[in-house]
Amino acid sequence: MAIQENTPVVIIGAGVAGLTLATFLKVAGITCIVLERRDRSYVQTRQRAGVVDARNVQMFERWSLADRLLGGPVAQTIDYRTDGVSRVFEISKEDAVEGRFCTQQMLVNNLLRVLVDEMGADVRFSVTDVTIRNEAGVAPQVAYADANGLHELTCVHIAGCDADRGVSRASIPAGILTTIIHDFGYAWLAALVEAPVAAHPIMGISEHGFVGQLPRGPHRSRYYLQCSLDDQLSDWPDQRLWDEIRLRTGDAGLTNSAVLERELVPLRSVVHVPIQHGQLFLAGDAAHLFPPTGAKGMNLALFDVDMLAQALISAVRDDDLAPLAAYTDTVMPHVWRYQEFSSWMTNTMHDAGDSTLHGTFCQKTARARLDALFDVPAAARIHSEYLRGMA
Ligand code: FAD
Ligand code: PHB
Repeated sequence: MAIQENTPVVIIGAGVAGLTLATFLKVAGITCIVLERRDRSYVQTRQRAGVVDARNVQMFERWSLADRLLGGPVAQTIDYRTDGVSRVFEISKEDAVEGRFCTQQMLVNNLLRVLVDEMGADVRFSVTDVTIRNEAGVAPQVAYADANGLHELTCVHIAGCDADRGVSRASIPAGILTTIIHDFGYAWLAALVEAPVAAHPIMGISEHGFVGQLPRGPHRSRYYLQCSLDDQLSDWPDQRLWDEIRLRTGDAGLTNSAVLERELVPLRSVVHVPIQHGQLFLAGDAAHLFPPTGAKGMNLALFDVDMLAQALISAVRDDDLAPLAAYTDTVMPHVWRYQEFSSWMTNTMHDAGDSTLHGTFCQKTARARLDALFDVPAAARIHSEYLRGMA
């Protein structure tokens, strides 16, 4: 016999999207239950993104959470290093808000501290066999299992925050969703290394392929190296990794240091639409994937849950279902605008360097786009607004 409970909202997934949504609901006095298939220590140590953009700093300020959740200032510059020559782009701003340093791991840890340890919210780790009932005319239900047996949560709304391979999107019947995929045709080797950060974040462009160096704390950097989709981790022993970093940054004096983690990331964009069905609403990687070049994946997950939290609050507190009904239409223009930016960044950073990818014409036009960031104030302004998430 399953253990039965009722709650207004069930959130599936305790990543950035699920935990932020739960925190916003809790601040608004709305009860929810969060279900996570991993244990707490796994969720707290997963590494990925590094910066919360200015739009989302402003969002956390609006929810009175910025200083409890986010880290300190981050460089407002990018070294677009071309053939070993540095050109430092200064991110201009039209208001006082700046992006803040906050690794994904730091944000998740702070969310868990505020949400679970301080506000006493109900986050259930290590659950298995999550299933969703979401049919017209019957109350939505989420079932799962844990060490105590089977549970059934009857609810009003379900938030699917369980990323690309979760159960939420998969529960939507065939024929409802359209999936739009763009593969860029190459991958990144993403390596977390123990090394002091450079003076500015580096986006390195050269015939040898793209290299990025992004800060992950005072003594840690994430390096990104363009590689083939066919590459295996075994193709990238430490010596090759450091040799390629030296070649692509033009920094021959850089010494090898410890590589803490490495993974291969194919560069692709994916958008699913609509991002709601019945009483199920998708947010974050469950709804879309961004290539990491523009640093927008985590930031769009935060945008989604800002919109979804406001819509759920209107529904639960004020009985106004209109914002929930409009959720997909509210979120989609922003998602496409940032897919456009991420694709601009990805094409520009790779085409400008590697002429074997799309030929000399694409290489020269990509370099012209990059030059415009330094020579055309209007181009610099729009690039800054995209980087800040304010476009
Ligand atoms: P996740 O953080 O993946 O959380 C989903 C949660 O759901 C997980 O905890 C998972 O265990 C849980 N779950 C899954 N299935 C189930 C289930 N069946 N039942 C219960 N729980 C389940 N973004 C940026 O903004 N900036 C960056 O610089 C950046 N860099 C990146 C670098 C790399 C190498 C990668 C891979 C990604 C990067 N991203 C970046 C993207 C960013 O990490 C994601 O967009 C972000 O994690 C999405 O948050 P989420 O909450 O939707 O998903
Ligand atoms: C990152 O911190 O991983 C990052 C930052 C800026 C980018 C891309 C990635 O444009």
